[in-house]
Amino acid sequence: MSEAVAVPVPTAPRPREGDLRVVVLGKGAIGAPVREALASGHVQGAQLTAIVDRRGATRPDGEPIEGDTWLGEADLVVEAAGQPAVASLGTSVIAAGVDLLVLSIGALGDEDLHDRLSAGPGRLYLSTGAIGGLDVLRAVADAGTLQYARIETTKKPRTLIQDWMSQGQRAELLDAVSRVEVLRGSPQHIAGAFPASANVAMAVAAAAGSRSLVEAAVFADPTCTVTTHEITVESTTGTYRFQIANRPSPENPATSGLVPLSVLRAIRDLAGRKETVL
Ligand SMILES: NC(=O)c1ccc[n+]([C@@H]2O[C@H](COP(=O)([O-])OP(=O)(O)OC[C@H]3O[C@@H](n4cnc5c(N)ncnc54)[C@H](O)[C@@H]3O)[C@@H](O)[C@H]2O)c1
Repeated sequence: MSEAVAVPVPTAPRPREGDLRVVVLGKGAIGAPVREALASGHVQGAQLTAIVDRRGATRPDGEPIEGDTWLGEADLVVEAAGQPAVASLGTSVIAAGVDLLVLSIGALGDEDLHDRLSAGPGRLYLSTGAIGGLDVLRAVADAGTLQYARIETTKKPRTLIQDWMSQGQRAELLDAVSRVEVLRGSPQHIAGAFPASANVAMAVAAAAGSRSLVEAAVFADPTCTVTTHEITVESTTGTYRFQIANRPSPENPATSGLVPLSVLRAIRDLAGRKETVL
């Protein structure tokens, strides 16, 4: 008889005193890898306490959690569940004194919701998500030298189809043979029109501390193999251009593979990693 080989059963790391207790909203292209990194102990100083999706909340080992009691075991809630989830859950997170890291930043186009989420006592953080360069934008905005900022996003046509589009608009988009402009306007208009694809427009507005100085546009390009964001910042101190070319997440073509990495970087910073580049 052959000898039985003991297979080690992986166990979740034990909570450590003083760890940042993190709850993740959403189990999709962003939430799943963030949950995995946290549950496997890859984020020093942070501990996953619950995962919440449309069906309810569970502990990292899958045990169901009653109602919204997960909120009492959180220091930080990471929202990766869509703009409607920010509206339905965000205010109670902030009101409970729990910090909220928002991915679906387009939800803040609703000024009333934005005010409620900014009222504390929990702190509102916005993820840099799929883009970068926001440190420069914030620096010139804080100094009062920002003249304008623009973000132009180019995606594959099929990822841009929306319920509000007429049959004609959809056909035009899907039949395009080269890059076409789909919509241009204020950041809140663009992020509202493309809720899963253009949250970055409101991220730029938040970094600029202004909606009126920011213009956003969305393009469809059937030939593109990556999602691109071109950010231009004009300031009295200079002109700054950032070009981001993101490979899509294999789980969700509307989301870039960079986004969960940005979230994990933010959690590491909030959990107190030393020697951070700010
Ligand atoms: N800021 C950025 O750069 C950026 C980039 C990509 C996506 N996003 C935002 O992040 C969101 C999530 O992206 P994704 O690719 O992971 O989406 P996804 O569709 O892959 O997953 C969404 C998850 O959220 C869950 N969910 C939906 N409604 C919920 C609710 N009310 N409460 C709890 N869970 C709920 C779903 O069950 C699913 O698990 C997008 O909708 C978008 O708004 C932001």
